[in-house]
Amino acid sequence: MPWSYIAGTGSAVPEKVLTNEDLEKMVDTSDEWIRTRSGIERRHIAEEDETTATLGAEAAQKALEDAGVSPEEVDFIIVATVTPEMLFPSTACVIQDMIGAKRAGAMDLSAGCSGFIYALSVADSFVRIGQSETVLVVASETLSKITDWTDRSTCVLFGDGAGAAVIMPSPDGERGIINTILGSDGSKGELLYMPAGGSRYPASHETVDKRMHYIKMNGREVFKIAVEAMGEAAASVVEGAGYRPEDVDLLIPHQANIRIIKATAKRLGISMDRVYVNIQEYGNTSAASIPIAVDEAKRKGFLRPGDLVVAVAFGAGLTWASTLFRF
Ligand code: UT7
Repeated sequence: MPWSYIAGTGSAVPEKVLTNEDLEKMVDTSDEWIRTRSGIERRHIAEEDETTATLGAEAAQKALEDAGVSPEEVDFIIVATVTPEMLFPSTACVIQDMIGAKRAGAMDLSAGCSGFIYALSVADSFVRIGQSETVLVVASETLSKITDWTDRSTCVLFGDGAGAAVIMPSPDGERGIINTILGSDGSKGELLYMPAGGSRYPASHETVDKRMHYIKMNGREVFKIAVEAMGEAAASVVEGAGYRPEDVDLLIPHQANIRIIKATAKRLGISMDRVYVNIQEYGNTSAASIPIAVDEAKRKGFLRPGDLVVAVAFGAGLTWASTLFRF
């Protein structure tokens, strides 16, 4: 029986758009390569004064409005991100102040592209044990700020944006989070990481010269593991709750690569007309990709109250996560 449900959603992306054609002028790449290998056509890029907190706060305010909840009613804020405002204080505290959530506790959560589902699971648990009644989950990223714009193997993939959800006790025991799977394999962490800026390699002239403050990814290896882990996690979260693939109304996968999305749908056994895809517009926005997709699918009428939804993600850590919920 679900204990908590998504009472409201919101999203925010920068206005500025960078197309594949724009990238052709920056690195040795082509629109054709990017589209066929990843499915991406455009991505939204933050201006200098747009940050993870400003985008996150905008998404949060929209989600609160959608849920009909005032900022003062929020008990707890979780921000999933790999691009925080700074190492500390947490981006969650910055957003807490921006939106005026005066009563809320606040913390960040780092689980790469799986961050939103991890945060949703924490929010669900807080509601379940009675720790909180109203949890604001925000996933926000400004990946453009840690992208190496000279590295064609990564710079064509990422974009900026934020999504948010308000998690509250299920109104009827029908709608809400039914099952969640969380996994990790830290032994493969260096397949996708930003090496410097922490305690292992504190910022120095050397780390800057060696371009260690940018995303590094072994795309081919990550691709293989992502296909396997996302397919498994999505299938297990459905089967583990006693449902069949045909019961699922919508699959909302992390938007990293259209080929990974298609393989995940195939493994789960559902056709692409029941899969929400917006990678062409936003690229890979890491933790923000699923909540942006949930909010957009809802606004466009693809996602309706009562729909059975599977969300599944994979990313830095390595981490993976899947959740089954009735919207
Ligand atoms: O969100 C977190 C999880 N992240 C992911 O899930 C990303 C997973 N990985 C991927 O999506 C794919 O591996 C990529 C889209 C990153 C790359 O696709 P791929 O089919 O795995 O290509 P590849 O890395 O095997 O590269 C194929 C070729 C290489 O040339 P050679 O060695 O065959 O001559 C690359 O140098 O494509 C070349 N290449 C490019 N060519 C044009 C790599 N990047 C580019 C580029 N434009 N931007």
